[in-house]
Amino acid sequence: MADTLVTTQSQEQALRVTLVSKNTYTNYLSQEQAEQYGFKANHKQTFLLPHENRLLVGADHESQAKNADPFDTPNPYQLGAVVVRALGKSSITELEVEGVTDVTSEQDEDGQQQWLTRFLLGMHQAAWHYDPYLSQEKSPRKELIVSVGEADRHLVTKEVADELYALHTGIALTRHVIDTPPEDMNPNSIQDEVSRELDGYDNVDVQIFSEEQLRKKGMNGILAVGRGSRWAPTMVHATVSPQKEVKHRVCLVGKGITYDSGGLDIKYAGLMKGMKADLGGAATMFGTTKALAELELEHTEVHWISPFVENMPNGNSYKSDDIIRTYSGQTVEIINTDAEGRIILSDALAYATLLDPDYIVDAATLTGAAMFSLSEHVSGLMCNDYELGMKALRTFEQEQEMTSYVPMSEVLRGSLKGSMSDIRSLAQDRMAGHIIAGLFLSHFVDQNLFRNEDLGLEEKRAYPWFHLDIAGSAMNEGKNDLMANGASGQSVRSLVRFITQNDV
Ligand code: BES
Ligand code: ZN
Ligand code: ZN
Repeated sequence: MADTLVTTQSQEQALRVTLVSKNTYTNYLSQEQAEQYGFKANHKQTFLLPHENRLLVGADHESQAKNADPFDTPNPYQLGAVVVRALGKSSITELEVEGVTDVTSEQDEDGQQQWLTRFLLGMHQAAWHYDPYLSQEKSPRKELIVSVGEADRHLVTKEVADELYALHTGIALTRHVIDTPPEDMNPNSIQDEVSRELDGYDNVDVQIFSEEQLRKKGMNGILAVGRGSRWAPTMVHATVSPQKEVKHRVCLVGKGITYDSGGLDIKYAGLMKGMKADLGGAATMFGTTKALAELELEHTEVHWISPFVENMPNGNSYKSDDIIRTYSGQTVEIINTDAEGRIILSDALAYATLLDPDYIVDAATLTGAAMFSLSEHVSGLMCNDYELGMKALRTFEQEQEMTSYVPMSEVLRGSLKGSMSDIRSLAQDRMAGHIIAGLFLSHFVDQNLFRNEDLGLEEKRAYPWFHLDIAGSAMNEGKNDLMANGASGQSVRSLVRFITQNDV
């Protein structure tokens, strides 16, 4: 089972990371010193006392400017990251946390444990960065050795330690998969990555479909997008089985474009840079799956489904004007080869419905429009089941991963109607590209629209589903100085919590 990220042993030499509120900071600092240095224990303020080998960390929530937005409330994840930032270029790697019960005194023990888990996860995530290509490690810290002081040690139960480990390793995996250069994380090499990360779990079964198998199944969307690449497309289907009888079944679907050049409708350089992150949705679901495998759910069977495809131009590439018969049987006219994510997802979503899940969730770096309308920080959530979508949004709120509800207004659906095909891949106009993309995907979770008789559907169903457009939020390109540049890992912790909270 899990390596540990928080030891229960005291560390003599460790830097004391002392969380303080307005009521407790004067135990460490005289009023005069505090005034002289302007330390008021405000949320995220830090103060180093080198002679005492102690870092004071302000955790007083009252000082935070109030905003009606729940995502803006003080956040233990950020506070953990602030600690790592305060270590600067020092070589400190051993830390002992204290004062947790002091600054969370208004919460019950369960709340305090959750607070501590989030704080520690914030620390570990802030220290983590992608380093395989650094000839000389720039930071002395990728891994921290963290203990919790005696007064708070009762909070560190096995559940806390296991959850921390599961979330950290899952999120780090997501970030690793996104950050790896596209030549190294391609539709071929991803298969080794998936085996390496998931084969060790008794509760996980991995199936990887080859190009030939995809052809036999008729997954022509995935095959079309992959035709211009020298790497054959693949599709991963991993199943995480619960410990007890199955009461819920969840499908996680992720867009895995290992590089998005745009295809024949090629992107220009400014827009192409960064498109290694176009497997961000798949990486998010990969990390979520690993965390869930680690957590050993009781009653929820989890399926992760991701096509891995490179979108490249060559003489064999798919092109605009092509009409593709997708796995669902619905035909799609290609309007622009750069809108490739929805094409591969159409097959993956239709495949997910065949597993008869309670609901399907997909994550995709799907549209520039989502990023333009919501910023690089916020994911867009669209759904065909308002209650499911709202329930999920609450979890994103609770985990403080900024996500916004985006309405998929039916009035726009008509603009996807094709004249020679069932649907077009883009609308006639360029309005609200993220909503159009969401509407497009919704066609593939509703079996009533399917026309593939070979799927043998006796009774056709529309499946509850929500879609996360993470085009902006998957990456942290300098927008947040609390985390290394590159992949953010955003959404993993909310998805893991959403599924574990409902595992009853
Ligand atoms: N992978 C991109 C979307 C994207 C853009 C992700 C920026 C992250 C950052 C997607 O495949 C794409 O190219 N979408 C186009 C669609 C257009 C051709 C209608 C877009 O959004 O510009
Ligand atoms: Zn594209
Ligand atoms: Zn793309």
